[in-house]
Amino acid sequence: MHDFTLHADAAAVDDPDFAEASLDRLKQVLFQHDADFSRLERVQIDRVFDRKLVHAIKYNRQVMSGDRPLPHQGGPKGVPTTAGPDIENMKFYVRTYGCQMNVADSNEMGRHLKAKGLVETQDPDDASIFLVNTCTVRQHAEDRAFSEIGRLKRWKAKRPGRKVVVTGCAAERTKEYLEDRFPFLDLVVGAKSIESFEQLAERLLDRRATDEDLDYSVSTIDQKVAAFVTIMRGCNYSCAYCIVPYVRGRESYHSMDQILGEVRDRVSEGAREITLLGQTVNSYRHGENRFADLLRAAADVDGVQRIRFISPHPYYMTDRVIETMAMVPQVCESLHLPVQSGSNAMLKRMMRNYTREHYVALVEKMRRAMPDMTLSTDIIVGFPGETEEDFRQTLSLVEELQFDWGFIFKYSAREGTPAAQMDSLPQTLIEERHQQCLELVDRIALEKRLKLVGTTQDVLIEEGSVGRTHTNYKVYVRREAQARQVAAPRNVVPGEQVRVLITNAQRATLEGEIHNGNVTFENFWEEDSRVRTCSD
Ligand code: 5AD
Ligand code: SF4
Repeated sequence: MHDFTLHADAAAVDDPDFAEASLDRLKQVLFQHDADFSRLERVQIDRVFDRKLVHAIKYNRQVMSGDRPLPHQGGPKGVPTTAGPDIENMKFYVRTYGCQMNVADSNEMGRHLKAKGLVETQDPDDASIFLVNTCTVRQHAEDRAFSEIGRLKRWKAKRPGRKVVVTGCAAERTKEYLEDRFPFLDLVVGAKSIESFEQLAERLLDRRATDEDLDYSVSTIDQKVAAFVTIMRGCNYSCAYCIVPYVRGRESYHSMDQILGEVRDRVSEGAREITLLGQTVNSYRHGENRFADLLRAAADVDGVQRIRFISPHPYYMTDRVIETMAMVPQVCESLHLPVQSGSNAMLKRMMRNYTREHYVALVEKMRRAMPDMTLSTDIIVGFPGETEEDFRQTLSLVEELQFDWGFIFKYSAREGTPAAQMDSLPQTLIEERHQQCLELVDRIALEKRLKLVGTTQDVLIEEGSVGRTHTNYKVYVRREAQARQVAAPRNVVPGEQVRVLITNAQRATLEGEIHNGNVTFENFWEEDSRVRTCSD
């Protein structure tokens, strides 16, 4: 199978008949070379994108495993190629900090760059553009991004023409500071302006925006089995600790048409599982439609096997949403529902607009509707004013609700938030409580996973031999013949759903063998980070 990258020459397409005929010829050439069309990057006929074919009437470049030269190199004389000579072959590298929203934003920015002819690389040494997508939810996340940005001065100096781009939430909060402290930055784009990234990147690439570029702004092939689709931006809440409303602004919602179009795009690129994203994802509304309507519509898209969403707010876990989760088979019975604290006094101080009793009653209702549902959460320890008794209440909530996993965060004061005006607890106390809470959450997580040993689960393979259950447990599967080899086996393919007998469990992962026989397990000790809402 060959990998092709063909840059289209949109300017040359004036005559659709000519385009069709040329395309047929092109297909013949590619078929002769055994090309796999599903792996071609981009297709355009008469300025209309078609993902199954590549418009390359005057094709200008072909990258093939054997480095085979193209029959015709370059566009016709006098006709500029869409990918200008300055950016052709330019590679970009993206480093993402923070939550899934940021991962989705990085993917979107990457698609814009690819649509302009750039190629993504996993090796910073190979790149001409280094994009750091930052997070500011806690000081630690911001510090990590800033020290990386500091190191990029040397990276940039190593090769002329290199560019450094900083985007995201910390960029929104500290744009001027960043530009002052790191004068070598070429572009700083705050989280609120991410949707203008495409135009801003034009300046960076020193190219004029044209209609052709707009055509090219559709997404390119991602080839991920599990894909994110952003359905809304911003947050209308004002939780006392949280910087998000300041850096991402008030809620705005994408239309159902746009979202469903993106779901279809991701599916046509190979996605089988779609995670809908938003800061309070279940507060989604558009016209008459509410979140439950969107869930149902997304589940109905051809080819969608699984739908997840992250992060919901307890307030919007309505009966309709619960019913949809319980009734629609594609919607996964797994929920990451941040609780933040088990103490009513703390929830009030945090301005969370629910009580412990509300949260518990909600979980009980959901578990009645979905007995196999998995539940995970976010907890903040050491919020200003948290007493020993408040902290004990959090531990007792963890015991009571038996979360399947959870992310425990040390409170971090964010300038400009109401909580930043309150007196902080001593750092040592915050560390101690963090450790104690982590140990409890981990112990329960392991107990719950061990209960699954001996059961059979449907696992959707995402990469190599790693997949997920409907309930979002990460599972490693192996084939017997390869059980003693360390390298990942190839007995399953991404996108395939297999029945797996669970044979072992760790705190964050499961291991298993394919039920129909010749597969067994191997020990893995990797952390599961996918449901982590923030990676710092
Ligand atoms: N300090 C610590 N944790 C925080 N979170 C948000 N803001 C802060 C903060 N200032 C946590 C919350 C949220 C998750 C994404 O990050 O638990 O759910
Ligand atoms: Fe931005 Fe908040 Fe996501 Fe961090 S967690 S990247 S601050 S939205």
